Amino acid sequence: MRAVVHDVYGPPQVLRLAQVDRPDPGPGEVLVAVRASAVDQGLWHVTAGLPYLIRATPFRLRRGRARVRGMDVAGVVQAVGQGVTDLRPGDEVYGTCDGAFAEYACAEPRRLAPKPTGVGFGEAAVVPVSGCTALQALRDAGRLRPGQSVLVLGAGGGVGTFAVQLAKALGAGHVTGVCGSRHLELVGALGADEVVDYTRPDARLHGRRYDLVLDIAGGRPLSELRRLLNPRGTVVFVGGETGGRWFGGLDRQLRGLLLGLVTSQRFRPLVGTQRHDDLRQLARFVDSGAVRPVVDRRYPLAELSAALTHLREGHPGGKIAIDVAL
Ligand SMILES: NC(=O)c1ccc[n+]([C@@H]2O[C@H](COP(=O)([O-])OP(=O)(O)OC[C@H]3O[C@@H](n4cnc5c(N)ncnc54)[C@H](OP(=O)(O)O)[C@@H]3O)[C@@H](O)[C@H]2O)c1
Repeated sequence: MRAVVHDVYGPPQVLRLAQVDRPDPGPGEVLVAVRASAVDQGLWHVTAGLPYLIRATPFRLRRGRARVRGMDVAGVVQAVGQGVTDLRPGDEVYGTCDGAFAEYACAEPRRLAPKPTGVGFGEAAVVPVSGCTALQALRDAGRLRPGQSVLVLGAGGGVGTFAVQLAKALGAGHVTGVCGSRHLELVGALGADEVVDYTRPDARLHGRRYDLVLDIAGGRPLSELRRLLNPRGTVVFVGGETGGRWFGGLDRQLRGLLLGLVTSQRFRPLVGTQRHDDLRQLARFVDSGAVRPVVDRRYPLAELSAALTHLREGHPGGKIAIDVAL
C-alpha cells in the first residue's frame, strides 16, 4: 500500500512516499481504509525531533526502522480483529490511530467514533486531535461554567478555531479570540464576541480580566497571563511554538504549576487525548451545526511535506486536511 514514511529527523521534506506492507489488525483492533487525515504542529515536532525531549518518548524514531506517522483519521472499517464487537466492515469512522498517512491503518475502537454524517471525510479528519484538545481544555482542565468569560490565545489555528466555537456551544458568556491579522474575520464568523489582532499593540486587552484563558499560542510570560486572569480564574496551557529546543516550553508550564500553589489563580497543563465519548460529542456538535471544522487547504498524501511546510510558514486559518483516497 502507499504510505508516507519517516526514517530520519529533519525538515518536512524528509517525509517520503513509499510502498509498505498493509498492516493486519491485532486482537481488539480494526483495519481502517483511510480516506483522509490531517497535519498539526505535533507532526512537525516528531519529524524534526524537536524539542529534543521528543527523542526520549514513544514518538521517537528507532534506528533502522521507518515509521508511518499520522494520528487523525477518517475512513471506512475494512476488517475487524478478534474480540471487536462494536464495529463492522463498512462503518464510517473517525478518530485517531498510529499510522494514518497510509491507505490502511490499524486503530483501537476506543479512539474511534461514528464519523459526523453532515460533513465529508476531509472535514471529519481535522476534528479529532484539535477538537478533543479544545473540548478538554474548556470542559475538563478549564471547568468552564455557563456565563463565564473566555480568552482564546491562538484563536485562528487548529485548536483555536474549535475552542472559540466550543466555548460558545458550552455556554460561555463572552469569548475573546486573539489571532493574526488575516484571521480576524474568520474568528468573528466562528462566533467570538470580540477579536483582537496579536500583531498590533491593542488597548482592548489592557485592564481586561477573564475567568478562563486558553494559552494555545504566543508563549506570553506568566506575569502577563496573571494580569489577564480574574483572581479565581484559570489558565490552561495547551501549547505554543515559542518554547526552547530542549523542553519546548514545558519549563513555563512547570513554573505556572508552582505559582498556582501560592495564588488563588489556577494554572493547568493539558495533554489532550482522543476518547470515544468525546469524539461522539464532537460529532453531535458538528452535525447540529454548532461547530464547523475549518479546513484551510487540502493536500493529497503524496504532498504531505508541502502540507507541513504550509502549516509552519503559510499561516493557515484552521486546519489542513490530507486526502489519502478519494
Ligand atoms: N496539549 C495538547 O494536547 C495539544 C494538542 C494539540 C496541539 N497542541 C499544541 O498547541 C499549539 C497550537 O496548536 P494548533 O494546532 O492550534 O496550531 P496552529 O494551527 O499553528 O495555530 C496556532 C495559531 O496561533 C496563532 N498565533 C501565533 N502567535 C500568536 C500570539 N502571540 N497570539 C495569538 N495567536 C498567535 C497563529 O497565527 P498566525 O499563523 O497568523 O501567526 C495560529 O493561527 C501547538 O504548539 C501544538 O503543538 C497541544
